[in-house]
Amino acid sequence: MTEHPLIVLVTGANGQLGSALQQQAATSTHQFVFATRAMLPIENEAAVQAFFNQHHFDICINCAAYTAVDKAEAESETAMLINSHGVANIAKACQLHHTALIHISTDYVFDGKGIAPYTEDQPTAPVNAYGISKHEGEQMALQFCKRTIIIRTAWVYAAHGHNFLLTMLRLMKEKVQLNVVNDQLGCPTYANDLADALLHIISTPLENQWGIYHYCNSGVTTWYDFAAAISRMTGSSCQINPIPASAYPTPAQRPAYSVLNTSKIQNRFALTIPAWEDGLERCLRAIGNL
Ligand SMILES: NC(=O)c1ccc[n+]([C@@H]2O[C@H](COP(=O)([O-])OP(=O)(O)OC[C@H]3O[C@@H](n4cnc5c(N)ncnc54)[C@H](OP(=O)(O)O)[C@@H]3O)[C@@H](O)[C@H]2O)c1
Repeated sequence: MTEHPLIVLVTGANGQLGSALQQQAATSTHQFVFATRAMLPIENEAAVQAFFNQHHFDICINCAAYTAVDKAEAESETAMLINSHGVANIAKACQLHHTALIHISTDYVFDGKGIAPYTEDQPTAPVNAYGISKHEGEQMALQFCKRTIIIRTAWVYAAHGHNFLLTMLRLMKEKVQLNVVNDQLGCPTYANDLADALLHIISTPLENQWGIYHYCNSGVTTWYDFAAAISRMTGSSCQINPIPASAYPTPAQRPAYSVLNTSKIQNRFALTIPAWEDGLERCLRAIGNL
């Protein structure tokens, strides 16, 4: 554990993960600067430089991102501007100011054709514009900041924001039955669990730990099983029907298999990762649905 309090910048502070970090950091001994998009628009190089010139940060956790997966198909330039160019701006500023960078990335850097949980060194091949922009962002972070940790996560949800859990809770109240895709496999991740993991990681010595890691809650599920668990836990009477992804076309193609192997992050940082059902239960309790 680090002995001195650190000064930690969190970008994208109003997003799911940024908000979770705000909650979980309330009892931390470190000092946090939570920068919203309005305070720190990462695609604006001059604004990023000015922000880093005004304050010193030991660590920057970059949670800022363009995350609208379907919209990114029509807005690929905007996705690239934020998820690649924006990350380059942050990485260059971190390098110049000797700030360690923890950059958040995604399971969507893989093509989803795997059959076993993806390890960090497996080849990347994103299949949609969002995934391509996030993959570019990883390259930018690694290229421009030597002291970089990239954490790829997946299927993130929280008590606030735009996510599958909140969509399901709304639809389960509005409809008597719902069709949910049952042939895409992944690991739902409670933003507060990832936030806890990040707080743990920044409190350990980071030197020699640079590189790519995977973090998601443990276990494997499909969107259908995830929805069925939400229904079961909340006592909903809405009927959930499994359908193939082919029956639910979306502008962006999704990887069929995006399960992440989390052994590396668990071993390197002595982390214990909660099961996805456990995270779901705690999130439902936080929302007031249990
Ligand atoms: N959500 C998922 O399922 C998922 C899965 C895998 C990986 N990830 C990754 O996890 C990280 C956190 O995601 P999240 O779920 O917390 O996303 P989120 O809720 O969409 O939050 C992203 C935040 O970034 C901000 N932002 C957007 N453009 C920005 C810009 N140009 N400059 C500064 N801030 C900007 C957004 O602000 P506004 O709200 O004002 O636009 C928002 O507060 C991202 O890197 C994402 O790619 C997410």
